[in-house]
Amino acid sequence: MSLTGKTIAVLGGTGAEGSGLAFRWAHAGLTVIIGSREAAKAQVAAAALNALLGRAAIEGVDNATAAARGDIIVLTVPYAAATTTALGVKEHLGGKIFLDVTVPLIPPKFDRVQLPDGRSAVEQLAEKLGPDVSVVAAFQNVGAHHLKDLAHTVDCDVLVCGDSREAREAAVALAEAAGLVGIHAGALANAAAAEAMTSVLIAINKAYKAKASGIRITGLPPRT
Ligand SMILES: NC(=O)c1ccc[n+]([C@@H]2O[C@H](COP(=O)([O-])OP(=O)(O)OC[C@H]3O[C@@H](n4cnc5c(N)ncnc54)[C@H](OP(=O)(O)O)[C@@H]3O)[C@@H](O)[C@H]2O)c1
Repeated sequence: MSLTGKTIAVLGGTGAEGSGLAFRWAHAGLTVIIGSREAAKAQVAAAALNALLGRAAIEGVDNATAAARGDIIVLTVPYAAATTTALGVKEHLGGKIFLDVTVPLIPPKFDRVQLPDGRSAVEQLAEKLGPDVSVVAAFQNVGAHHLKDLAHTVDCDVLVCGDSREAREAAVALAEAAGLVGIHAGALANAAAAEAMTSVLIAINKAYKAKASGIRITGLPPRT
């Protein structure tokens, strides 16, 4: 899917993961706006990212404005705030692609798999958003740590799960724009595996004193 002409709106884009993805997407030439609960905070975060980029590419606005202006809406807030944030901008999501990056990490045991009701959190969120929103899950396993360092090859594939092929194609294209490989990984329900894997990776980081362990899918045909 071509991302040309699309606006990518990152809700919670002031945070570690959202700002890192926004930075990479803007560096790739995409139109990116970051959202916050406070427009002023988003403006400060956008200015810092633009300084890093060396050009005024990213705009900072409040989450509702970001959702209204975006064609692809990306959610990067803590799990505890995910449903409230998404439902708070629901009126702006109809007919759009909604890319959920959040992971159901429940304090204090981030390194333990705790899927709510044993199902993927994003599937439950999608039910609340309704059939008019094309929900896709991706980037759950990509640590924020190296995203703002373009010289660093992020050593992690991106599992893309969603019930809409168009939404999955968009997420795969966004992974590529960020310098990563996006992999079609089936239905939205399969995001349970990616969400659970994040806790596994956190446990691995702890065990090996690593900053950003990742995953690779093997056995695929060579990419053309
Ligand atoms: N960090 C990683 O390495 C990583 C990797 C993969 C996936 N993820 C997932 O991505 C999501 C974001 O992670 P993160 O590390 O970027 O989180 P974060 O920095 O703690 O928070 C991101 C942003 O969420 C907003 N936020 C915080 N509390 C909120 C609340 N109660 N209500 C509404 N908005 C709130 C804040 O923006 P404002 O204050 O500007 O509104 C904050 O800047 C999480 O679900 C995480 O599991 C993270």
